[in-house]
This record gives sequence, structure tokens and C-alpha cells, in this order.
Amino acid sequence: MSLNQVLEALSRNLTAGGLLTAPDDIKPYVSDWTKTAGTAMAVALPRSTAEVVSVVKACRDAKVPIVPSGGRTGLAGGAVGTPGCLVLSTTRLNRLGEVDIVGRSVYAEAGVVTQTLHEHVHAHDLEWPIDLAAKGSSTVGGNLSTNAGGVAVIRYGMTRKWVTGLQAVTIDGDVLELNGELEKNNTGYDLVQLLVGSEGTLAIITGATLKLTRRPRHLCTLLLAVRNFTAVPDLFVESRHLAYDIQAFEFFSNRCLTSVKEKLGRKCRLTVEAPFYVLIELEGEDAYRLQASVEEWVAPLMTQGLVLDGMIGSSSEERKEIWGLREGITESLALSGRVRKYDVSVPVRHAVEFIDDVKRTIDDQKPVFDLYLFGHLADGSPHLNLLKHPHASMEQFEADGERFEKVLYAILKSHGGSVSAEHGVGLLKKNWLTYSRSATELRLYRSIKHAFDPHNLLNPGKVVDV
Ligand code: FAD
Ligand code: MLT
Ligand code: ZN
Repeated sequence: MSLNQVLEALSRNLTAGGLLTAPDDIKPYVSDWTKTAGTAMAVALPRSTAEVVSVVKACRDAKVPIVPSGGRTGLAGGAVGTPGCLVLSTTRLNRLGEVDIVGRSVYAEAGVVTQTLHEHVHAHDLEWPIDLAAKGSSTVGGNLSTNAGGVAVIRYGMTRKWVTGLQAVTIDGDVLELNGELEKNNTGYDLVQLLVGSEGTLAIITGATLKLTRRPRHLCTLLLAVRNFTAVPDLFVESRHLAYDIQAFEFFSNRCLTSVKEKLGRKCRLTVEAPFYVLIELEGEDAYRLQASVEEWVAPLMTQGLVLDGMIGSSSEERKEIWGLREGITESLALSGRVRKYDVSVPVRHAVEFIDDVKRTIDDQKPVFDLYLFGHLADGSPHLNLLKHPHASMEQFEADGERFEKVLYAILKSHGGSVSAEHGVGLLKKNWLTYSRSATELRLYRSIKHAFDPHNLLNPGKVVDV
């Protein structure tokens, strides 16, 4: 089949507006938040699983690679279009099923926006507890395909814990109905969990049965200024003695706070400027008692000097204000230009030593960038972001970044860490995978890839080369 014949077959099988071929129409679909340059010969926007099947079969017959695309908020380059590919966007696969309040689950098509799903289940006082700053654009299919983390992992774990069943289309156009609503099903290999986190390289997820939990009762959000990075894990240890569930435990450096204030115009009510800030969110049954306990808990920490200043957000407005500082970091840094991002993980007890090693490397190398530190300390996943000094050249920045990266990953390995805590491998971490996976694991990866996609047509070049 020629390319024209493929496009003809695609436009015949897709409902109106389902195929984009004009360069200006394609452009928004060829990259993700990494801004990595991408390209594609066309974009398909199927409206149903049957349409996905027809797209996949046409591409398989003509050996056209397919790049699945959700909200393109990915930070690893997984949804970046490659030469001659067809981008398969899930934007129009956006139906939501009724909430099952007995089994606490809901069916969502892959293109449902994360926040839309949240609002749908909130009507039943339930929650799909995958919470990330990109939720207004990211999709359920993207969250599953990247096994997204976010700000509530300490309490709920990653995306893979919140799915029972998947519908997915293989490269042969077979529709897999995997596990449905079953909580228990011990019949061999778990293909649901294999597809979660596979970043579009094994099959196209078209829908999922998602698990739900009750919404938190009363939340209290604290923003605490602390004297140094060591105080962050110290505070984590202290906070775990509280008789409340920790909903989030996040941190950011003063540089990050300054960036959010300057680039997004957000305000911080703390009066003391500190090297690091910690955001803790707690859930309690009774708002009044929760606030009183929190105040009682913080007071001696301030006397000891572990906490320098703090604010407690109890109303939704105050909580929103505090979260705005944490959740605005990524956007504010992106507004400063090119950012080199590292979403590493280490065992949480190594966090201080790991960051010390990183800082020592930067002191030694004297690069033309500054380190912006923030992230999810409770899960051992600090985000390291590098921003160029204003007057340095981009060439020098990239060269210094690469020099730093080599040492960073060696340090990471020495701490038993991973090159990706939550954003995935995509294009950007592929060359560093050997730091986190053994040769035997990678051999098995290739065998799995071959079993699902023998002609390497599903998101080729992402995660692992075959
Ligand atoms: P895309 O970017 O469109 O795709 C991601 C990958 O999944 C690609 O490989 C793509 O090919 C594949 N894919 C998408 N849909 C399908 C499908 N239906 N079937 C098969 N493959 C598919 N990530 C975190 O883990 N934690 C965070 O806290 C977090 N915060 C973020 C904050 C901001 C401001 C931004 C911009 C990003 C953040 N991210 C975070 C990264 C990103 O939002 C997540 O990775 C998200 O899950 C991606 O969803 P998406 O729909 O945008 O996927
Ligand atoms: C976050 O925790 O805010 C995200 O993972 C986004 C990022 O790393 O920039
Ligand atoms: Zn994160």
C-alpha cells in the first residue's frame, strides 16, 4: 500500500475531522512538554475502538509507525512524533461510564482528561487519586501508559494501583479485554500491569476500568520554611508520628519559590525567607481538631529551630494558595527557557547524601547553570531541574549539562536509585536505562516488545531499541 492509499483508507474509516494532514494542523500533535522536535505524516483522531482498530490495521499493512498521543504533557518525549509516523491521538475517545458505587469503579475511555474524570467521580464523593499539576490536560490513557506518580503517591501509590481492567488494541488490530472489574484474578501473567507504564510501545490503550476510593474528609495544608535540605526528611520522620493520614509531603527550594513568584505572580504569605519549604497535607475527620493538633505539633518544631516559619491552610482558598506555589513550579521554570529535567529516585533514607553528592559535583564542575530542587521527598523522588545562567550560551549550557548528567547518573547508581521515578523513559532516558535495568532485564524487554509488536511499529525508538 502506498502512503496515499493509507491516508485514503484512514479518511474512509474515520468519522468527519478524524484525519489531519495539513502541516499546521499536525504541528500541535508532534511534541510533548519536553518540546523535543517531532514530525508526523498525519494525525488520526478515532472516535471509537472500532476506528482505532481500522487505523492500526491500515498502518500495520503499510508498515507505518504509530505514535500514541494523549494530552502530550509527558516529560520524557514518549509522545514525540518520528519521521513518517502516524500520530494516533485519543482526544476524541472521551466517554465516561457510570460510577459503580458498590464496586467503587468507573470505566473511562483513554482520552478522558484526568481532571474531567475527577469531577465525574466527585459527584459520588469518590476519588481517582492520581493527582498531578498537569491534570487539566493529561489523559487517563497517558497516566496509565506512563504509570504517572504525582503529589499523592505517599498515600495512594502510583497509577498502576488504581486500575483493574484495560481495553487495548494490539498492532494486529485485536481488541484485548483485560480483566474488567475483577479485583482478584490469579490466572497467570498480568497483562494489565504489563501495559501500564509501557509508554505506547506494546499496545494502544482505548479504555480502562479504574478503581476509586472515598474522598478525603477534611484536609489541612501546611507550608513550612526550613533551615536546610536535611530538615526536609527530618520533618518527614516527625510528621509520620502524627495520628493523621499524610495526603502529600512535598518540598521545594527558595529558587523554585522565587521563580513561581516572579514568573507567575503568585504570592507567598510566609515572612521568613528560607533555603527550603515543605508542603504537608493531612487528612482528619474533624476540621477543628485537625487544625488544633497541627498547631500543637508545629509549635515545638519552631522552638527547636527545625521549622523557621509556617502557615496553615484550612479553607479551600488558603489550601489553593499554598498548592499554587508547588504546582506552578514546572510552568514557571519552563517560562525561563530550556530546562534540563531529571526525575530521579533514591531510597528515601539516601536523599540527603544523594543531594549532598549532587551539590558537591556542581561546586566542583562550576557549570553555567543553577540547580532548582523540588519534588516528592516522601517517595524518594526529588526533581532536579537545571536552568542556564542568563548570559551563558546554549552550547555551553548543553555541554555542562551533559558533563553533569554523567556524574549524576553514576552518583544515582551508587545510591541504588533509578533514572526515572515517574515520568518514564520515552526518548530522553533511553540511553541511561542500563543504570536502572540489568542486561537480562533489557533482553526480556526486547522479547516482550517483539511478542507484542514484531515489526516495531508501535512507538518505535521509545523506551528500548530493538
Ligand atoms: P502523553 O504525554 O500524551 O503521552 C505519554 C506517553 O504515553 C507517550 O509515550 C505516549 O505515546 C503514551 N500514550 C498516551 N496515551 C496512550 C494510549 N492511550 N495508549 C498507549 N500509549 C499512550 N508526571 C508524573 O508522573 N508526576 C507528576 O507529578 C507530574 N506532574 C506534571 C506537571 C506538569 C506541569 C507537566 C507538564 C507534566 C507532569 N507530569 C507528571 C508528566 C505528565 O503529565 C504525565 O506523564 C502524564 O501521565 C502524561 O499524560 P498525557 O495524557 O499527557 O500523555
Ligand atoms: C512535578 O512533580 O511537579 C512534576 O513531576 C513535574 C516536573 O517534574 O516538572
Ligand atoms: Zn513529580
